Amino acid sequence: MNKTLKPLFACLFSGLICTGAAAAEPQVINIKTDGSSMVMSVTSDGEVLFHHFGGRIDDATPVTGIKSYRRTDHGTDNLAYSTMGGRNFREPALRVTHADGDMNTELRYVSHTTRTLADTNVTRTVIKLTDTNQALDVELFYTAYAKENVITTHAVIRNREKGSIVLHSFYSSSLPVKARSYLLTHLYGAWARESQVDHTLLTHGSKSIESRKQVRTTHTENPAFMITLDSESFDENYGEVIAGALAWSGNFRLNFEVDEFNVLNILAGANPYASDYTLGAGESFTTPEMIYTYSSEGAGGASRHLHDWARNYGVWHGHTYAPTLLNSWEGAYFTFDAKTLTEMIDDAADMGLEMFVLDDGWFGNKYPRNDSNAGLGDWQVNAKKLPEGIDYIASYAHQKGMKFGIWIEPEMANTTSELYEKHPDWVLKASERDVVLGRGGTQVVLDLANPAVQDFVFGVVDNLMTSYPEIDYIKWDANMSVQNHGSQYLTKDNQSHMYIEFHRGFEKICQRIRAKYPDLTIQACASGGGRANYGVLPYFDEFWVSDNTDALQRVYMQWGTSYFFPAIAMASHISAAPNHQTFRTIPLKYRIDVAMSGRLGMEIQPKNMTEEEKALCKNAIAEYKTIRPVVQLGDIYRLLSPYDKQGVASLMYVAPEKDKAVFYWWKTEHFCNQHLPRVKMAGLCADKQYR
Ligand code: GLA
Repeated sequence: MNKTLKPLFACLFSGLICTGAAAAEPQVINIKTDGSSMVMSVTSDGEVLFHHFGGRIDDATPVTGIKSYRRTDHGTDNLAYSTMGGRNFREPALRVTHADGDMNTELRYVSHTTRTLADTNVTRTVIKLTDTNQALDVELFYTAYAKENVITTHAVIRNREKGSIVLHSFYSSSLPVKARSYLLTHLYGAWARESQVDHTLLTHGSKSIESRKQVRTTHTENPAFMITLDSESFDENYGEVIAGALAWSGNFRLNFEVDEFNVLNILAGANPYASDYTLGAGESFTTPEMIYTYSSEGAGGASRHLHDWARNYGVWHGHTYAPTLLNSWEGAYFTFDAKTLTEMIDDAADMGLEMFVLDDGWFGNKYPRNDSNAGLGDWQVNAKKLPEGIDYIASYAHQKGMKFGIWIEPEMANTTSELYEKHPDWVLKASERDVVLGRGGTQVVLDLANPAVQDFVFGVVDNLMTSYPEIDYIKWDANMSVQNHGSQYLTKDNQSHMYIEFHRGFEKICQRIRAKYPDLTIQACASGGGRANYGVLPYFDEFWVSDNTDALQRVYMQWGTSYFFPAIAMASHISAAPNHQTFRTIPLKYRIDVAMSGRLGMEIQPKNMTEEEKALCKNAIAEYKTIRPVVQLGDIYRLLSPYDKQGVASLMYVAPEKDKAVFYWWKTEHFCNQHLPRVKMAGLCADKQYR
């Protein structure tokens, strides 16, 4: 794990490469980015061992002649993809019951290839493995992004056996790491308190982070983490850090197991919980992608790599400046008519905002959406509230030089809806049980495993876009977790496929939408920050960080979010005082300064603002437009963490050319005669003069 260990990679897992004096020199697989390497080797009996993920190694010629002391029944070597069977006593990446009942899988090397893709920044290595006894193949895909120093990986499991096999676990990757100590940094939280930062020193045994909520998977935990190596303290600028993020928005699990030899094995993938997956003869199973980066410049370096990668490959429109906007939710909630909205548009245009978004409440006729308890599923304009139609509001915004966006929650229904009356079989539900109801006492989740439902959900977007081509932006919400564990579409033997198939259905819908509407801007919202992950971001432009718009609490939430996600994807809005969630009164300047560190927007009734407040916002919005390129495309340097409790939080964004930077400094508490710490800037050029 150390940059200086150039050719001697065998030292990292000393003695693991050669299995005896007679062993031939092992074949080496070295997957490289500009600044990092993943090194594996093939033993004489065909095992693929993992040796190194860290600084780049150009010549990975192994040291030969070292005899293994661990190839005994005390434990396994560090397999590149661990399985249940043989000497592996750790939790495996892959656990299978084969067609004949055999519970073991022992993978051996078949071949590997490396090729550069059309995008010459990207290299793909595929390692083919097969079981020693069963007709089961596994392909490990490693995609290396040179400039961003990111390596992503997934596995494809192929069943060539005569009958069906059952996959009990099917992780995307297992990564063995060897260091003196491992400090795990990850996000935890709750609704309205998302992305809190937690640091935990790993001890022997396992620590796991997971979601079983299926839809709003990132309120409580996020499938992203950092591991600081060889240090018990977290550092923004120094030291070695491995960061990972799973590209999966369904149930996930990350498991960190430190064994008796102090090797950390990281498993990351879709959660195997209640998800046994039967794979018929001839079928294959593709795991989600796991994204890894290595930094020798502390956590800050890891975040910058991930942000670069996200803007280039992981977020839809990662280089298009997100527009400033006024969202109607906290300003109008469910109570509005065309006049309310056009007046909001007038005020938004006066303040210089670039888009107006009509949130919840615009649809449903038989069951009007006047509250959260009715109407979901019936995506027709409510004729009573908006007899002039959506096109009238959209055109009004366009006439004012603004874009227009609209809220939908297409994966959901209320039982009080025409959709549910017509298709009660379209909702997730165990066949003989009463349906468990969510928000408003009537909400249910649609069964995205069902292709007819996929067509319906795609149709919600497609019909809106066809009927109202003036729509520029969609806020896609999802306000219920899966509380009904059953699919009315899947067969009785395949009920445990539901979690995987729901998310695959979701991805298929997203792919269809993106194929037809590449220019549409889409926000991922799931009761706030329930969908902040790289499973959705390849199809979405941004996510709503939290339903909590309190600026002080946002400092903490946006700080945690910034570890893994770039500011361009982080929607951050100025809202009213007292705040609607915390009832705290915070000066407008502070609310502006916090919102300006992400994608700036407003979530307020402008009619209730004073002229001075509007003027201050107008000024800030104009200023934001000048700094937007640096905020949304620049490199982040976190200077002083709010979690360090020094009374201040501070960060900056620096343009890649280092000719411009934006510096933020927020007080996080206030006491009399409090001496606040100095903040050292970072990321600037020592030989430049900044004004
Ligand atoms: C969720 C979202 C909010 C808002 C409401 C509307 O809670 O997170 O921003 O859109 O739904 O019902």
